Amino acid sequence: MAADGFTPPPLGAPADARVAAAFAALAFTPEVEAETAGAWEKVKGVVTPLEWRLHAPLIAAINRLKVEKNAVILAHNYMTPEIFHGVGDYVGDSLGLAREAARSDAAVIVQAGVHFMAETSKVLCPDKTVLIPDLRAGCSLASSITGADVRLIKQRYPGIPVVTYVNTTAEVKAETDICCTSANAVQVVEWAAAQWGVDRVILIPDEYLARNVARQTEVKIIAWQGRCEVHERFTAADIAEIRASWPGAEILAHPECPTEVIEAADFAGSTAAMNDYVLTRKPKQVVLITECSMADNVAGDAPDTEFVRPCNLCPHMKRISLENIYETLLTGRYEVSVPAEVSERARLAVQRMIDLPPPRVPARYDLVKARHHVDVELI
Ligand code: 13P
Ligand code: SF4
Repeated sequence: MAADGFTPPPLGAPADARVAAAFAALAFTPEVEAETAGAWEKVKGVVTPLEWRLHAPLIAAINRLKVEKNAVILAHNYMTPEIFHGVGDYVGDSLGLAREAARSDAAVIVQAGVHFMAETSKVLCPDKTVLIPDLRAGCSLASSITGADVRLIKQRYPGIPVVTYVNTTAEVKAETDICCTSANAVQVVEWAAAQWGVDRVILIPDEYLARNVARQTEVKIIAWQGRCEVHERFTAADIAEIRASWPGAEILAHPECPTEVIEAADFAGSTAAMNDYVLTRKPKQVVLITECSMADNVAGDAPDTEFVRPCNLCPHMKRISLENIYETLLTGRYEVSVPAEVSERARLAVQRMIDLPPPRVPARYDLVKARHHVDVELI
């Protein structure tokens, strides 16, 4: 058996045969039903009993394998509810997942999220095995910029600190001074400006996040023109339509949305901030302007709130399924690696972010009350 607990398939026997046998043995038995009863309670509003007969055996098998392999599953808020409530050991936003990776003592991390998140875990835990169930789970923001782009930006703006959204490759993080997520971007930008003793900061690659941050701080922002393909599609007209159709609904939006959407919403914050808002304020009716699974997952913990569901799917997040999580745990594929010299430099940028005091409550983007109606400088 290999040091990370994965047994390679016997010579001549393709891994697929072992995987096929494991899948064939799955059944919805009374034991499985009992083991997964807690998760069923959370998801039964959004998953049918017929679907559950397929999900539950996988959930039970994954949870057993995790113990066997000393593995932990870090699941982002955009995972489907059967993953989120069924197998996620830690669920949360990008900042929470990074913090959890850093403190986990499991031998194996399975990242139920997209590739940049798995890379972040690997950068923070170079000695652990980090697995992602589908290598194609990318991100339009991460693919909008390269390390070479950042080197050119630094040449153009010498002495200006580079703050990088975690939705970037390790290669990009390695070129930057400090990372941020939507939960702490204002705090990080202000920290960087103070540390460098300057009045402007480069915040890349999400143009909309940069514009939304610029409205919350006196620090001037230099931005890149990357976009989240999920959040850029929401418009102010969508919000007006929602208000007309559901006048009592509270509208919460993610700060990767265009500024006019954030201005029209009642609240904006990271996925954890939206979750926090719903669980603590218990609105009667709410709309989450973000990825579709978010509402399904929060709904499991908010039985008294009605969710109105205009949303957009992230095709990258949706590549992760119970099936490929199970396969990952059975076979050890796909292992994420980051070259040592990239990893060391990227770790500095991520660790600097993690070392900042955690926000008391997840940051909110209050553009209606924002004092700083400034524009950003686009690179
Ligand atoms: P947060 O979970 O940090 O809010 O990020 C959302 C996102 O788009 C991650 O891909
Ligand atoms: Fe990237 Fe947007 Fe998908 Fe998040 S939701 S992974 S930012 S494309």
